[in-house]
Amino acid sequence: MQAEQILFSQGFGSRHECLGLIVNGRFSIDGTVIKDPFEDIPTENLTFEVDGRSWRYFEKAIILLNKPEHYECSIKPLHHPSVLSLLPPPLRVRNVQPIGRLDEDTTGLLLLTDDGKLNHRLTHPKRKVPKVYRVSAKHPVTDKQIRQLLDGVKLADSDEIVKAADCKLVDEKILDLTIFQGKYHQVKRMLAAVSNRVEALQRIQFGKLVLPETLKLGEWTWVNSPADIY
Ligand code: URA
Repeated sequence: MQAEQILFSQGFGSRHECLGLIVNGRFSIDGTVIKDPFEDIPTENLTFEVDGRSWRYFEKAIILLNKPEHYECSIKPLHHPSVLSLLPPPLRVRNVQPIGRLDEDTTGLLLLTDDGKLNHRLTHPKRKVPKVYRVSAKHPVTDKQIRQLLDGVKLADSDEIVKAADCKLVDEKILDLTIFQGKYHQVKRMLAAVSNRVEALQRIQFGKLVLPETLKLGEWTWVNSPADIY
């Protein structure tokens, strides 16, 4: 792929701006400056630098963000900044979008992508992609509550019954709850349905992907392939 096309596809601005970056010597590969915008460069496993900052080439971007509290997943946030503001400009230019949503006060593993098909695949209820939430509950979680969550509970203001796919008690008030769906406030409403209450909520797993312990709140990393997720 031509150098200019690489930068354009990775969100570094208009074709004109990408051309400018290259002729001004701001684009390099392994430290070697490339000044010909039309040089043909293989994209497989490509890492390149813009102004010395290293970037991986991905035809489609998949991003894992450790979402902090007080960020909204909405593209047009109402009360807090958007999670997109935590990402560097090229990813925003590529128009990555959250895969599903986390509440403003929920932390943890949020995926974003510019691959519409993947987004649809991972959010479609029929696909049954497991999501694991670490719930800090207000009251000790009882065996009865776990049984109810596994058997299915009726959410308030809805006729729907939703079941936890798995429930693991980590501590008396800490529960790892796995669900397949992604209904509005689902975990909070499930805990409320068994007369408990969510005090804090963190998503720790999405499909096969586990939130890396080394990734601090607000930090992001690339996901290499959809095969890492499902
Ligand atoms: N369930 C909730 O209640 N909130 C979230 O953010 C995610 C799942």
